[in-house]
Formats: sequence, structure tokens, C-alpha cells
Amino acid sequence: MVKIHADFTVETTPTKPIEGQKPGTSGIRKKTKVFMEGTYLANFVQSVFNTLQEENVPVQGGTLVVSGDGRFWNPEAIQIIIKMAFAAGVARVWCGTNGLLSTPATSAVIRMRGGKGYEPFGGFICSASHNPGGIDDDFGIKYNCENGGPAPEKLTNKMLEWTAKITELKSCSKLPDFDLSKPELYELPGGKFVEIFDCVSDHLAVLKNCFDFEGIKKLIAHPQFSMTYDSMCGVQGPYALRVFEKELGAPPGTCKNATPLPDFGGPSSAWHGHADPNLTYAVELVKEMGLNKEGNKVETGKAIPCFGAAADGDADRNMICGAQFFVSPSDSLAMIVANADLIPQFKSGLKGCARSMPTSAALDLVAKKKNIPCFEVPTGWKFFGNLMDSGTSYFPGKETYTPFICGEESFGTGADHVREKDGMWAVMAWLQILAKKTEAAGKLVSVEDVANAHWKEYGRNYYARYDYEGVDKAKAEEMFAAMEAQVGQLVGKEFQGGLKIKINDMFEYVDPVDGSISKKQGLRFIFEDNSRIIFRLSGTGVAGATVRLYLEKYEPPTGDLTQHQFEVVKPLAAIALELSKLSSYTGRDAPTVIT
Ligand code: G6P
Ligand code: ZN
Repeated sequence: MVKIHADFTVETTPTKPIEGQKPGTSGIRKKTKVFMEGTYLANFVQSVFNTLQEENVPVQGGTLVVSGDGRFWNPEAIQIIIKMAFAAGVARVWCGTNGLLSTPATSAVIRMRGGKGYEPFGGFICSASHNPGGIDDDFGIKYNCENGGPAPEKLTNKMLEWTAKITELKSCSKLPDFDLSKPELYELPGGKFVEIFDCVSDHLAVLKNCFDFEGIKKLIAHPQFSMTYDSMCGVQGPYALRVFEKELGAPPGTCKNATPLPDFGGPSSAWHGHADPNLTYAVELVKEMGLNKEGNKVETGKAIPCFGAAADGDADRNMICGAQFFVSPSDSLAMIVANADLIPQFKSGLKGCARSMPTSAALDLVAKKKNIPCFEVPTGWKFFGNLMDSGTSYFPGKETYTPFICGEESFGTGADHVREKDGMWAVMAWLQILAKKTEAAGKLVSVEDVANAHWKEYGRNYYARYDYEGVDKAKAEEMFAAMEAQVGQLVGKEFQGGLKIKINDMFEYVDPVDGSISKKQGLRFIFEDNSRIIFRLSGTGVAGATVRLYLEKYEPPTGDLTQHQFEVVKPLAAIALELSKLSSYTGRDAPTVIT
């Protein structure tokens, strides 16, 4: 413990509202320079504290977690937040070593590290997730509540209101900067503390409660098994090294790009600093696994690992591959749920599951067979939190839904061990399933074996997402408005191949726990054979607009299950372009990313 004599004088400075502080799908994200300019960050942080105080959150004397994904300007932002936190009355600030905590680890720390009356009331995560980092790229921040999950909309709306009426900032500006580079407890006058702790251990402890590490260790030691894990220079590096190479005995070198960098490798990296695990950006993993960005098999001339995975900048996303085999996130979710009884976390039975609306309905088929509830929520992990917490002390007296496994098409999968999606958890879930199946079969069972068996039982929801990045925002909005104006009128319309529209609506969600309503969550065209076309505007972009087009076609177990997903959905894409007139609105004739 290091005692520091510090000056806690609270300095109050006048400020004015700054435009553009509306939280999107996941906190606020802007160009780094926007955050660095003037009091942009401070205005938002103060608005959060003001909201929390208004909501009677125990900020005074409380414990706050502050960390991030290690991107450019993270250390500076953390020091600013620490000083403002003390001015708001916080007694203890907790930071991961080097200011690093992955998003799921932050959730684990908020939920589990407490004790002795020190349960954190919440935490700030400095991250723009998979968006590139650097002085010319993106920065972001979001606030998570005492359940470890992202602040729900009713709270983020209040934060937004505060950003529009804020008049002053409070900071203990005379405090020194704290050394974040090693674990240490700093004792400050007046019973205040800053604690820097190992960023991995809390999350690891949670994972040990979920999985049978010994069983997975045996799989990893299997003479025919090999794996590779790409942290894409994001925050996952220290977690990956500890879990895979140290705890589970994977050979050194299993973990690639495992040193977190402020620009996630930057423009010179194979992924151009986009630490986003998908077929387009996870270039090194995709190549090592004997694939190309279309998901086709490519000969590498080298031994291809049996299992490959990657994480994004803040390590809440995951991508799963077998040798020359890509698992779409929607399938990964359905397959984990189908095999949940092999995961110790669910030894007393899986109570339910949930997916975001654009995620394929592969999950629904599994839930139906298992006879467990399956929820469809809007895009954004925050919507799962309410469902997970229902039936617990957070919502006393409410009906118990408690879904335990949730997932999204956007490479997010997780469970109720934390309240964020968890890239490491998803990989461990797959390894656990492979370990148990291998043990039972007496021979190595591959990712592809699991997928094939799944499709034979449930059929296959062929799926693809087209992203049109950086399009003109006004034009994109015009395109959506035109489709919205027509909602319902197209029901019954028939297209080539006999596809007939059954439902055409704008997805609206009524939270079954607190009754809150989220409108305009995506345009849906659902066909009579349950094929789906969905349009959404991304809520995580920074410049212009990103149009997302989600395509899904179901093939029953008796059908052809071995086609290429991108080929199968092409006729749907043609219909989608006709329905939206996307090319004429945006000037684009091809998507930026297909995944
Ligand atoms: C973040 C959220 C996810 C969401 C994803 C895509 O990663 O945590 O819950 O699915 O963004 O959001 P977007 O609005 O860009 O489609
Ligand atoms: Zn992320």
C-alpha cells in the first residue's frame, strides 16, 4: 500500500452543453480528437454522475470501476475520470493494470470483486469496441450499472438530458496522476483509495465457475488437437495468454497479436486497425484457418489448426472457426444452446435463451425442441440484461424469465455469469463442447462435426449480413423513411422464385420485465417460407451511416445443407435491393463487408 498526501479541493468550472452526446447502441463513440477537445469527455462524465445522483445511486462513499480497452487516449481519459469521480464523492476507484479491463471483465469485476461492503455501484468502460483506435480514429465511453451491464435506455436517456442542460464540471484537479502500470493500493486522505489490480484474475475466477478447465486441458493436450487465438492487438491479449497458454497448457505461440496496442496494430496491420473478428477483418486468423474472406476453402501449404478464434478490441466479441470452416455467429449461438448440457454452468438445466431480432432463427428451433423460452430483443446487449435479472433481487416480484444464454449476429455471445457479451466465454463454451464430445466419442470431434450434426437435426438457417459503411446519412435516412412509409402495403407481394411477403413491419420491442418500449428497431420483410430480409441503421458508427442488411433462408434437415451461405441468400439480396432502392439512394452497388 502506498500512502499519498493529496489535495482533494473540488474545482468547479463552468461549461456549456456540447452537441452529439447521445448514447448509441453501446455508449457514445466519436473521433478521438472530439473527445480530446475541450471538455467533451468531462461533460459526458459529469452528466453521468449527475444522473446517478438524481437516481439515488450510492455514489457518495461508493466504489467505481474505471478502465478500458487500451486504445489511444485511454490512460489520459482514465486520469480525468478518477479526478471527477472523487469530486462526485466516490471513495474508491478500481482500475485494471495499465488501465486495461476487457468489457466482460469489467462486468465480472463490478459483479464479483466486491465484498466487505465495497460492491461497486458501477463502472466506466473507455472503449469504442471494434472501431479502430488512434488519434485520427475512434474513442468511446459507456457506463455500466451495479449489475455489471450497460446502462438501460431509461438511464441513458436521462444522461442525454443532462448533457443538454449541464452548466458546471467538478473535478479534484489537484490530485496527482496515478501510476496504472502495476498492481497497487493507493491510500489517500479521508478514507479514499485508488486500487490498481491484476486485470485478468476476477474474470478468470468467473470462467472457472462456468467451465471444467481440466476437461478442456485434456482436449488441448490431445495429440491431434491444435488451436490458434487472435487477440488482434486488442485488450484480450493478457487474458488469452493467461487462460490458453498458462491455465490450459496450450503451446506458446497459440496466442497471436497478444500485446494490446493503442491503435490495435494500426493501418499497417493486416486488418488495418479494425480489431473486429469477422471474415473481412480477422485477416490473419481467416488465412491461418485455410479460408478466404468469402468463407471459401483455401490451401495454405501449412498444417491448419483444428480450432481458431478471435476477439475484438474490448474482447466482448468472438469469432469461431474450425479447420477451413467458419461458424456464423447465429449458428454458434444455436449450437452452444443445443449443447448446453455439456457445460457445467448449466448443470441444473438451461432456463432460457434470447437473441437480437436480426440474429437468425436457428436459436428458436433449438429452444422449441428443448422446450425453453426464447426471447427476441432489439440489437444491443443492454436488452438482455433486464431478462437475465428478472426474478432476481433487481426486479422483485416480477415473473422469472431468466434466459441464461444470449447472442447476436454481430459476433456477440454470452451468458448470465456477467452482463456483457463475453468473447472468452464463447470460445470456452466451444472448447468445452468439443472436449466432452471428444471424450464421449473416443476420437477427436471437430467444429465441423458439431455443425453438421446440428444442421442434420434442426435444418440450416443460411445467413449473411451486408454492411454498407460510411454512406451519406441523410440519404440513408431517406431510404428508410421511404420503406417505412410503405410498411404493410407489400404484404402478399410475390417475387421471383415464389417468395411471398408474409409480414412487413418496423420492429418494436416491449420489454417483458419493465414494460419499456423501444420503437423503430429495424424494418422486417418476412416471407411465407420464413425467409427474412431486415434493414437497420447501425448505432455504433462514427462517420456517416452504416446500412445493415440481414438475409436469412431456412433449409430443412432433408434439404441441401452443404451450400455456401453467401450463395444461398443472393436471391434474397436482389429482392432487398429492389425493395429498398439502395443503389439509387446511396450510390453503392456492393456492400463494404459481407459476413
Ligand atoms: C455493439 C453492441 C451489440 C450490437 C453491436 C452492433 O457491439 O454491444 O449489442 O449488436 O454493437 O451494433 P450496430 O448498431 O452497429 O449494428
Ligand atoms: Zn466489442
